[in-house]
Formats: sequence, C-alpha cells, structure tokens
Amino acid sequence: MFKNQKYNYAVFGNPVNHSKSPNIHSYFAKQTDILHIYKSVHVPLNNFYFILRDFFQNQGQGANITAPFKQEAFFFADKLTDRAKISQSVNTLKKIDNKYILGDNTDGIGLFSDLKRLNFIKCNDLVLILGAGGGAKGILFPLLSFGCSVFILNRTVSKSQQLISHFSQFGKISMFEKCLLKEKKFNLVINATSQYDKNMIDLSLFSQSTCFYDMNYQKNNTYFLDACIASGMTNVSNGIGMLIFQAAHSFFLWHNVFPNTDDIINTFQKTCLVHQNDVIK
Ligand SMILES: NC(=O)c1ccc[n+]([C@@H]2O[C@H](COP(=O)([O-])OP(=O)(O)OC[C@H]3O[C@@H](n4cnc5c(N)ncnc54)[C@H](OP(=O)(O)O)[C@@H]3O)[C@@H](O)[C@H]2O)c1
Repeated sequence: MFKNQKYNYAVFGNPVNHSKSPNIHSYFAKQTDILHIYKSVHVPLNNFYFILRDFFQNQGQGANITAPFKQEAFFFADKLTDRAKISQSVNTLKKIDNKYILGDNTDGIGLFSDLKRLNFIKCNDLVLILGAGGGAKGILFPLLSFGCSVFILNRTVSKSQQLISHFSQFGKISMFEKCLLKEKKFNLVINATSQYDKNMIDLSLFSQSTCFYDMNYQKNNTYFLDACIASGMTNVSNGIGMLIFQAAHSFFLWHNVFPNTDDIINTFQKTCLVHQNDVIK
C-alpha cells in the first residue's frame, strides 16, 4: 500500500478527513526547513496493525494516531516513553534506527503547554476534569506531577474509579462530589468529554475567577464554552492550542527541533473560530 507513496509522516485515524495535523505539520516543516511530507490515512477499523506495519516497513518514519486507535498504537509500539506507559495510550510513533518503533503520548504535555501559555494553571491548583475517556487519561500525569489536586466527574462512574485507582500513585486524585463546590474553590475546569452534557454540573456555581478549558474545538464556540459564557464565566479557551502543542511535541520527538507555535495558534484561532482570541477577558 505504501510502496510508491512519497510521504514519510502521516496521521492515521477513522474518520481522519477532519484532521488538521497535515496543515500543522506542513507549516512546521516549512518553518524549520525540515523535509517532511505528511498526509492523512483513513484506516478501516480492523486493519490498524497491518496498515501501520506496512507504512513503517516502507518509507514511514513517524506517525500520529487519532481516534479510535490510540490504544491499539500502545500495543503496536515496540518500546514506550514513560508518559505513554503511564497514560496507556499512544498518539505518536517514531521509527528508531530502522530497528524498532517507539510509542509516545504528547496529548498531556500538549495540553499542559497550552495551559501555561494561557496562564490557566499554577501548582497546587484544584482541577476538575469532566470525562474519563482516553483524552482524560492522556492529560492526568502532567497535571498530577505538577502538584495539582484533580477531581474526576464522568457519566460512567466505574470509568472514573478506574482512572483514580491507576493514577493515585502519581498524585492527589479523587472523585468529584457536588458538595465540593461549596467547600472548595476550583481554579480550572477541563472538558475532556466528546459530548458535553449540560446536566453534568451547574456551571454558575463556580467562581468567576475559575478558568474553563475545552479540549474540543470547532469553527464556532463549542457547546461547553457557550454554556460557560452563558453562566457568566470569562476565562475560557477551546482546545486549538492543545492541538498545536501536541503536534509540536510530536515534531520534536521526530526531528529534535521544537517549532514556533505562536503564529500558527493565532492563525488557527482567527480562521477556525468565531472569537479572534481564545481567552475572553
Ligand atoms: N485538542 C486536542 O488536541 C485533543 C486531544 C485529544 C482529545 N481531544 C478531544 O477530547 C474529547 C474526548 O476524547 P477522548 O479520546 O477522551 O474520547 P473517548 O475516549 O471516546 O471518551 C469520551 C468521554 O466523553 C464522555 N461522553 C461521551 N458522550 C457523552 C454524553 N452524551 N454525556 C456525557 N458524557 C459523554 C464519555 O463518558 P462515558 O465514559 O460515560 O462514556 C467519556 O468520558 C474528544 O472530543 C476529542 O476530540 C482533543
């Protein structure tokens, strides 16, 4: 399948047409003068292993993996970085010395880099995460190791319990209870659900100084950010910065060069979103 293809980097997913990774990586390649041809590849649901093996046996040097294959990529990799081991999922693969495939996870460090850029996080902050899927799993380690106390709220309680028991060795993590809203002042709320349900939590109960980050992004404001703004919250951001930073950390793993992210974040915010600035203050 990949024998006569000219590209050596690609994002693999299903669906994958919506992916902005080819645009982001072409931009990074141009900016850094690194020859790197990046495409998107739609993978039939039962074919992940075969397609990835074929890619790396031919000219494939590096891959990004998106839904629903991050777990399969974790098992596909021959070796794993610590953050991939801890998050138990892989979004970046790299061929090393023509011998083995290294798996990494740059989602968590990507989110963390964006929270720092936005000034949305300090150590010892109280952070509420909505959701307990693969995305939540990927972001917990950097938050816990930074010293934040993390609370989880998810539609399926058993999934929150699984996350808490796996990650409690890395820091302070517990189940969110509604009574905590009266006792504690949350600094940051992260929406890590794929479909925010407004009945999950009453956003108007948070303080106006709380920051709200949606890992999702779309052309208009996301449903979650609309709900935050309707509840009077002003420190809000979509997940465009996370998307750019996770790509930048993948690029760094592949080429050992960290690209400049400022311009592309600004461009994406202007072209992809209604609001010109992601932080409305
Ligand atoms: N910006 C970025 O770079 C970036 C990176 C990674 C992910 N993301 C985004 O983050 C989101 C989550 O990704 P993921 O990989 O964690 O997905 P996932 O593994 O499929 O998990 C989905 C999560 O959303 C919850 N959920 C889904 N439908 C719901 C509903 N109707 N009501 C309440 N909760 C609902 C699920 O709850 P249950 O456990 O109860 O099913 C689960 O917690 C996705 O939209 C993805 O695009 C963005």
